[in-house]
Amino acid sequence: MINKLKQYQDDFDLLISKVSSLKELAELRSKFLGKKGCVSLMLIEMRSLSDDQKPQAGKHINEFKKNIATLIQEKTQVLEKTSDQTSVRTEGFDTTLPGRGNSPGSIHPISQIMDEVISIFFSLGFRVEEGPEIESDFYNFEALNIPKDHPARDMQDTFYIGEEVLRTHTSPVQIHVMENQKPPLRIIAPGKVFRCDSDISHTPMFHQIEGLMVDENLSFGDLKGVMNSFLYEVFGKQTKTRFRPSFFPFTCPSAEVDIECVMCSGQGCRVCSKTGWLEILGCGMVDPAVFKSVDYDPERWLGFAFGLGIERIAMLKYKINDIRLFFENDLRFLKQF
Ligand code: PHE
Repeated sequence: MINKLKQYQDDFDLLISKVSSLKELAELRSKFLGKKGCVSLMLIEMRSLSDDQKPQAGKHINEFKKNIATLIQEKTQVLEKTSDQTSVRTEGFDTTLPGRGNSPGSIHPISQIMDEVISIFFSLGFRVEEGPEIESDFYNFEALNIPKDHPARDMQDTFYIGEEVLRTHTSPVQIHVMENQKPPLRIIAPGKVFRCDSDISHTPMFHQIEGLMVDENLSFGDLKGVMNSFLYEVFGKQTKTRFRPSFFPFTCPSAEVDIECVMCSGQGCRVCSKTGWLEILGCGMVDPAVFKSVDYDPERWLGFAFGLGIERIAMLKYKINDIRLFFENDLRFLKQF
């Protein structure tokens, strides 16, 4: 049996040295290692040996088998390489070159800030609501206590679509929510808003997040607490804030909230027009007229609302001086976030 194995080995060595293609190699493989190949035959023959000869013979056959398998494996690699090179020569395509690589996309800075703001309010117990971008006069103005002759209805600010408008703010979502749900409420409404305006700090479309809380026992102090917690979370605990009296038709009293200028730390610079403060959001206690328009009892319910511009927060947080950069979709800009 040992002699036979030696013979097989010699045959194999000769044959493999003549193999020049993967196809020929596969044939050789099946001749030696296939079902009806030499190794299988030897194993069958082994059965006729005496019990004390069997282990020794088995060992030799296995070694032979292993050796052949290794040699075939090595030859496969050699042939694969040369066949690649041949195809480079004939087809001009080098499969061994590294790929050009692909750069993964990133989340748009506006979406990032949007997600961050939503998660902050989420942790304060607010849930997300949405409303339509095309609104009737009633939802965008009337129900929010903005009468027909109010300057906010100026044709230059509002995009009209026949009788309807592209919403100029997210405040109409307040009305939709209160029409459909009973108080107490704690919601935020993120979304696109539209105004006919375009320059370094205005785009015809931008993003707002509206907030509304309605309960029996709410005060301006609660509003301040929620606004401050939010601003500390976004701009850092050391941020100074201030509430400045203001006017919105749908809140009373109303305020605008400023943070200390992030560019000059309150020293006064071009960005904050030398005031040291930056306006960041509008807010106030829900005007009883708004509650009346949605059939909430203004004697029983109190509420506060706020609206903030996402682009403005993104610009201050990332120190960007031109709002239009967000919408040009220049990858060199977007990749930085
Ligand atoms: N809707 C206002 C705006 O777009 C912001 C605001 C919302 C103010 C809610 C007060 C309360 O300017």
